[in-house]
Amino acid sequence: MEDKNIVWHNQHITKQDRAKKLNQTPKLIWLTGLSGSGKSTIANALEVKLHQLNYHTMLLDGDNVRFGLNKDLGFSDSDRVENIRRISEVAKLFIESGTIVITAFISPFRSEREYAKSILEDGEFIEVFIDTPLEICQQRDPKGLYKKALNGEIKNFTGIDSPYEAPLNPNITIQTDSIEEAVEKIIECLID
Ligand code: ADX
Repeated sequence: MEDKNIVWHNQHITKQDRAKKLNQTPKLIWLTGLSGSGKSTIANALEVKLHQLNYHTMLLDGDNVRFGLNKDLGFSDSDRVENIRRISEVAKLFIESGTIVITAFISPFRSEREYAKSILEDGEFIEVFIDTPLEICQQRDPKGLYKKALNGEIKNFTGIDSPYEAPLNPNITIQTDSIEEAVEKIIECLID
């Protein structure tokens, strides 16, 4: 519910001041793709690389955020929308702190990814489509969840009985099995 009795306060220290101190340009590197597509693995490897290059980073990861901030949310369409809305706002706060943020969520709906982009400044949002085909994700099935979904033990599973809307115009598309290549591709885009 919107509260009309609140007033936005301008702060003395700005995002630019914080970013300058960290000697970097804040970005939100938004990984999207099916469960088992490799988002978390790539996100972790990317953060390690950025860390080695002396960048100040933060990684927000699907499963982990659902243990805390979003533990009240499930996998209905409306819960996924709320999941991504909260993550977008948290990512924005980190952006305000000057941080380079990596997010790894299925984020199956285009409109929610567009929302994340819309609340940031131009050029801050980098959409990375981890384009691993459903058949490969199913073969990998690292958590055994596809098997359960196909057996009907899990409902609303993305790619099985819940939709995934692939990005139409992502900044980066990853179609390789090589984590190193994926990380290189993202870093190249960042440096550009
Ligand atoms: S999102 O759709 O709301 O963006 P999120 O990335 O947070 O999803 O969580 C996805 C992870 O939750 C998957 O990698 C998987 O481990 C687990 N999971 C459990 N149930 C489901 C489900 N019904 N659909 C997709 N992922 C699920």
